[in-house]
Amino acid sequence: MKLIVTGGAGFIGSNFVFYQRKHHPEDDIICLDALTYAGNLETLEPVMNDPKFKFVKGDIADRKLVYDLFEAEKPDYIVNFAAESHVDRSIENPEVFLRTNVMGTQVLLDACRKYGIKRYHQVSTDEVYGDLPLDRPDLYFTETTPIHTSSPYSASKAAADLLVLAYHRTFKLPVTVSRCSNNYGPYHFPEKLIPLMISRALADESLPVYGTGENIRDWLYVEDHCAAIDLILRKGTDGEVYNIGGHNERTNLEVVKTILRQLDKPESLITYVRDRPGHDMRYAIDPTKIHNELGWLPATKFDDGIRQTVEWYLSNRPWWEHILAGEYQNYYERMYAGR
Ligand code: NAD
Ligand code: TYD
Repeated sequence: MKLIVTGGAGFIGSNFVFYQRKHHPEDDIICLDALTYAGNLETLEPVMNDPKFKFVKGDIADRKLVYDLFEAEKPDYIVNFAAESHVDRSIENPEVFLRTNVMGTQVLLDACRKYGIKRYHQVSTDEVYGDLPLDRPDLYFTETTPIHTSSPYSASKAAADLLVLAYHRTFKLPVTVSRCSNNYGPYHFPEKLIPLMISRALADESLPVYGTGENIRDWLYVEDHCAAIDLILRKGTDGEVYNIGGHNERTNLEVVKTILRQLDKPESLITYVRDRPGHDMRYAIDPTKIHNELGWLPATKFDDGIRQTVEWYLSNRPWWEHILAGEYQNYYERMYAGR
């Protein structure tokens, strides 16, 4: 079996590549990634010389490049992680979100139609459902919760989901969609809440909490997300959406304080800053469907996962220090010069 994993040099995509190599060593993996600011080839170093792994630098919205790749490789499965993924950046500059997340998805779907595949899987987010009020802890997102987006990021992801489902209905393309809650774990880019707070706390810098810090996210350890995608890809039903989440709801303030405790740093580092415009209050996933249909359950509790994550950042300082220094962006040129 041959998989194309798009966005495999990013946070979840790279964890998924490692998951595949570990659990399905017989499969061939091609990582297609444009290496935007969020893509880091240093992350993929452990598999770069693996004969079952190939890295291709390219943009999912580049139709010719994508068609040539499909023609040459004839993949069985596509897992699309490639996206602009940061809400704050989508507020600054929405356009690239539409180009990659919507147009890029469409190019991949067209390639799947043209060359034929066994399954296209779209990696989506619970943010397409909008948010839940803080005073209704009984409410959860299910797969039938209406799409109701808040940010240009979530709007672009929702548009992509609808396209994927339309290609199933109209063209009978074999697709699945997963909508996951917030991930955390190794190789998380240090612009997102958890790695940002770890790296700043280690430098005794102020920790910018948006608004009052009461917003709730439903945190899932990245490896549990990878296991769920793997199950859906191989055993899910065409045309279906699966929510993925592990009932690990925490306020942002709780998350930041947990990190500070673990690093033995004072809470006085916390600084309340201007809130994010349109800031979603609460995300919470009901994962009943994937549990009942595919037997998936998260393996990692938040308390264990956050401890492992902080430890990972402590023992992998060069990885995130290169990012903060911008050095990782020269890595591709260094690695590929003269090749
Ligand atoms: P990320 O920003 O860490 O990585 C994105 C990767 O996509 C990078 O390697 C980047 O270089 C690549 N990329 C961007 N534009 C591209 C393009 N035009 N062509 C090819 N490659 C391109 O993102 P992430 O956090 O790993 O998220 C991966 C996917 O999972 C996204 O689709 C995101 O919407 C979804 N998701 C993320 C979370 C989360 O908590 N991080 C939760 C649910 C769903
Ligand atoms: P983030 O990691 O950007 O993920 P998302 O917006 O997709 O949920 O943010 C998680 C939460 O943390 C969100 O409520 C915004 C908040 N946040 C801060 O309070 N300070 C920060 O510096 C960042 C990056 C996020």
